[in-house]
Amino acid sequence: EKYYHTNNQGHLTIGGVDALELTKKFGSPLVAYDVGQIRRQYQAFATGFEQAQSPYVISYASKAFATVAMYQVIKQLGGHIDVVSGGELYTALRAGFPTAKISFHGNNKTREELIMAVKNHVGVIILDNFYEIELLEEILTETQSHMQVMLRVTPGVTAHTHEYDQTGQEDSKFGFDVQSGQAEQAFIRVQASTWMTLIGLHAHIGSQILEVDGYQLEVQKLLALVHEWSQKFGYQPQVLNLGGGFGIHYTAADKELPAQTFITQIVQTMRASAQEYHLDQPAIWIEPGRALVGGAGYSLYTVGSRKDVPGLTSCVAVDGGMGDNIRPALYQADYEAVLASAPAAQPRETVRLVGRYCESGDVLIKQVSLPATKPGDVIAVLATGAYGYSMASNYNRVPRPAVVFAENGRAQEVVTRETYEDLISHDQSYQLK
Ligand code: LLP
Repeated sequence: EKYYHTNNQGHLTIGGVDALELTKKFGSPLVAYDVGQIRRQYQAFATGFEQAQSPYVISYASKAFATVAMYQVIKQLGGHIDVVSGGELYTALRAGFPTAKISFHGNNKTREELIMAVKNHVGVIILDNFYEIELLEEILTETQSHMQVMLRVTPGVTAHTHEYDQTGQEDSKFGFDVQSGQAEQAFIRVQASTWMTLIGLHAHIGSQILEVDGYQLEVQKLLALVHEWSQKFGYQPQVLNLGGGFGIHYTAADKELPAQTFITQIVQTMRASAQEYHLDQPAIWIEPGRALVGGAGYSLYTVGSRKDVPGLTSCVAVDGGMGDNIRPALYQADYEAVLASAPAAQPRETVRLVGRYCESGDVLIKQVSLPATKPGDVIAVLATGAYGYSMASNYNRVPRPAVVFAENGRAQEVVTRETYEDLISHDQSYQLK
């Protein structure tokens, strides 16, 4: 199976646009999204729920890639979003995103951020800790406002994924611990509030998860908890939010499970568990980030210098790297890359694809098989759409790349390239004594 498209010249295309045309027009390095691919992924999740006849909400975890244009696409698809900061919330508001469809996440939301969320009537605040419950209660009382909330709980599920990407296990920094009774204490506290309405529970077990069993275990644990609370307190949640984490194909090592398969099996488990406990099946919310945008994104780089040492892997350097994609350096994340002018050409050599940043760890791909490359060639690193641009930095004072959205053979710049002027726009000169 190929994870890219080509045109009749044999060039890589993104959203029907020749990747070489993209870099010619918008410069290099460039982040390009195939918007149709985002739509198809969203639809695949939706179809899963519709075929299983389960009430659902798909809430895009916008930390994966948060820009005005991206929020507009999700708005058009009819989805919800989750935000984790005042900055993401601000961007969504500026995109005209319907506030009722916004969930606000985070383990240390500030008073200002909570006030911003309350003032803008976000749909739901996902409560993470006792400090936050009291802070929100104060704000709601002061402003005489009502707010829908969910409780984030850590059900003790460890997903098979990178350590930094695990969040559902008991010693995670997020959410109320279930085992020790913290979750129940939080439940009692929130139920006693006049201003908060507890619409359900939230859990998130991790990221880049390629198997469904973790979600099934999560569903069972959440329903066991709901059962306990329904017996003790007569509680029936409207919603169980299972978080995100649906894994994607980066390299041949990742066996991507189709979105629909994930959903069908999750709904089945939910039904069976609900029946077992004689509970009504709550609506299922999911928060995919990576699965919606990861595979749709491409990083286009231009080849520059090269280092060859007899007996060692040759290094081919491109004009980007850890500043626009920190994932290889931070998580030892693996990617595939192709030559944009001939992605299907026979590989000629195995090289190390390195970046332009002043750090040895700035390696995009440790070993990649490519046709012979020369300076000026465009290389596309595949599936960089999630946590690439959104985690980008200005390390080495390198401006962040432009971002384009391509669809049906047309491309539009949705984030302009940073300029040197942008880089110093917050610098102030120091009054030297
Ligand atoms: N919901 C919650 C509460 C989350 O914490 C996350 C991700 C998501 C949803 C979306 O997860 P996704 O579907 O994208 O896997 N920077 C890391 C990933 C960090 C994920 C943080 N939380 C990476 O590049 O792998």
